[in-house]
Amino acid sequence: MKAPSYHVVTLFPEMFAALTGYGVSGRAVRKQLCSVKFWDPRDFTQDNYRTVDDRPFGGGPGMVMLAEPLDLALTAAKTVLRREGRVPRLIYLSPQGRRLDQALVEELGTAEALVLLAGRYEGIDERLFERHTLEEVSIGDYVLSGGELPAMVLLDALIRRIHGALGHADSAAEDSFADGLLDCPHYTRPEDYLGRRVPEVLRAGDHGEVARWRLRQALRRTRERRPELLAGRVLSGQEKVLLDELEHGSS
Ligand code: ADE
Repeated sequence: MKAPSYHVVTLFPEMFAALTGYGVSGRAVRKQLCSVKFWDPRDFTQDNYRTVDDRPFGGGPGMVMLAEPLDLALTAAKTVLRREGRVPRLIYLSPQGRRLDQALVEELGTAEALVLLAGRYEGIDERLFERHTLEEVSIGDYVLSGGELPAMVLLDALIRRIHGALGHADSAAEDSFADGLLDCPHYTRPEDYLGRRVPEVLRAGDHGEVARWRLRQALRRTRERRPELLAGRVLSGQEKVLLDELEHGSS
């Protein structure tokens, strides 16, 4: 697959320095494992004030983002991508959307191009949904002041799973949720920290036993903290055995 191309329509492109300038995501962008480009709707306004919002018809608090600057910005992003031979999916970050989880991250990760629309104020003019096929994505059941942080959350989740983005090739596969379970506990030096020792199995060097211990811990945590994840899971033979052991109290 070509390096994915991410375009973001936002009034605050500078905020994205938090994503593109730091850590795993920053390095991936520098290594050109993906590209992130920005479109400011203000650049698509016609008036002297560069107006991007107005009062809602029907009254009520807050402002609504004007259709035209967003429409033109989305169209500009799509046009650039189409010229590159890419057909983007368009994502509008909103609390009304499909809830983001790792399965949706994996699904969107197969797209070679995404155009993310980060809104502000009370929302966007509904007629934009008639002009563009916008899929709505929510990062959780709470309301933020704009779509920029949600867009960064989605982009970070997407970028870290690109091959080569993480230092260790297998790290993404071992993340929490990557295989539908929570992550196991981790330990590093010293072996003894204030009298608390690293579990012996991790130091003994038997890779099979380490893998078994980690899976058991992941199952234990998932069962304790997020049992609904196990309810919806097809268990492997080994997982059934380990869960059975947990049920019957053996460690
Ligand atoms: N915009 C404001 N709140 C949001 C949320 N929870 N998810 C996605 N976009 C949002």
